[in-house]
Amino acid sequence: MKNLKSQSGLNSIWTDSLVHNLRPDSNALVDHLMTVHQKHTGFTEECASSCRDETGRNSYEWLAELVPVNESLRVLDLACGSGLLLKILFERNKNLNLRGLDMCPEELELAGSRLKNSRVNLIKSKAQNLTAINDNSIDIVLCHWALTLMDPIAPVLNEVRRVLTSRGRFAALVDGPMNAAPGYLDVHNLIYSYAQEEIPGYGEIDLGDSRIRGRESLSNLVHKTFPEANITIETNVVTIEGPVNQVSEIAAGFFYAAFVLKPEKRKLMISSLSKILTISKDSTDAERQGRFSMPINRLLVELI
Ligand SMILES: C[S@@+](CC[C@H](N)C(=O)[O-])C[C@H]1O[C@@H](n2cnc3c(N)ncnc32)[C@H](O)[C@@H]1O
Repeated sequence: MKNLKSQSGLNSIWTDSLVHNLRPDSNALVDHLMTVHQKHTGFTEECASSCRDETGRNSYEWLAELVPVNESLRVLDLACGSGLLLKILFERNKNLNLRGLDMCPEELELAGSRLKNSRVNLIKSKAQNLTAINDNSIDIVLCHWALTLMDPIAPVLNEVRRVLTSRGRFAALVDGPMNAAPGYLDVHNLIYSYAQEEIPGYGEIDLGDSRIRGRESLSNLVHKTFPEANITIETNVVTIEGPVNQVSEIAAGFFYAAFVLKPEKRKLMISSLSKILTISKDSTDAERQGRFSMPINRLLVELI
C-alpha cells in the first residue's frame, strides 16, 4: 500500500519502503519506475537526445550504429520507452523488422504515436518475461538506458539469450564510470544530497542491480549468461552546452533521484546545480552558459 502522507515529491511503494527503512523489493521497483514514467513520460529522450559526444552523436545514435544499415534484420528494443531509438533505426534502414517492448503503457503510447507509419510492433511486457517473443527469433537486442533499472537482472539476460539467434548480438547503453566525465561526480553528489534531505535512505539502495554500473561487474555478470560470447564495453562521454538553466534541467533529468524532490526543493536543487555547471561566470543571469557531461558505457555481446 502506498502511504499517501509520504513527505517526498513522488510517492511510490519504493520510496515508502525507504522512508520506513525497509529494503524495497522488485514490485516496489516496478511501482516506482511506473510512477515516474507515468508522471514524466518521454523525459529520457528529452535529456539523452540533447547530449552529444565529440563526433556529434547522441547516445541513441551511438547504440544504433551497431545495427547494419543494409540488412533486413530482426531487432528488438528492450525497454523502448517513448520509441526514439526505434525511430532512428527505422529512418536508417526501412528493411528492419522492428519490435519495441516496455512495461509502461504511457511510454508505449507515445512511442506508438511517433511510429504510426513504420510497421514497428510494440509490446507491453516486462523484460524479465518475454513470452510474446519466440526462441531464436531476434538478430539484435538493443537496450538504451534501462538495463541499470532492472532487478532481478538474471531473468532478463536469460530471456535475451533465449530470443536471440545463434549468431545474435545484444547491445546496451548504460552508465559509464563516474570519473570519465569532468564534474559528473559533483552533479551526482549534489542531486543525491537533496534527495537524502527528502528521504534519508536515498542512495544506500539504488534503483536496479548495481553490477550494471561497473565495467568489471557488468562483464562478469553478462559472462555468466553468455559464457562463449565476445563481450566488449566501450566508454564515451556526451555533453550539452547552453543556457545554464536548461542545461541544469537536462542534467537533473538523468537522475531518478531528482524526481523524488518536492517542487520547492527541486527549485533549490536546480539553482545549486546551475552554480556548479556555469562556465561563463562573468555574464548576466540571462546569458549565463553552462555545460554538463555524462559518462556512458556501450556493452556489446556477440554470440559466436
Ligand atoms: C530511462 S527509460 C529509457 C527508455 C528508452 N529506452 C530511452 O532511452 O528513451 C527506462 C525505461 O525502461 C522501462 N523499464 C524499466 N524496467 C523495465 C522492465 N523490467 N521491463 C520492461 N520495461 C522496463 C521503463 O518503463 C522505461 O520506459
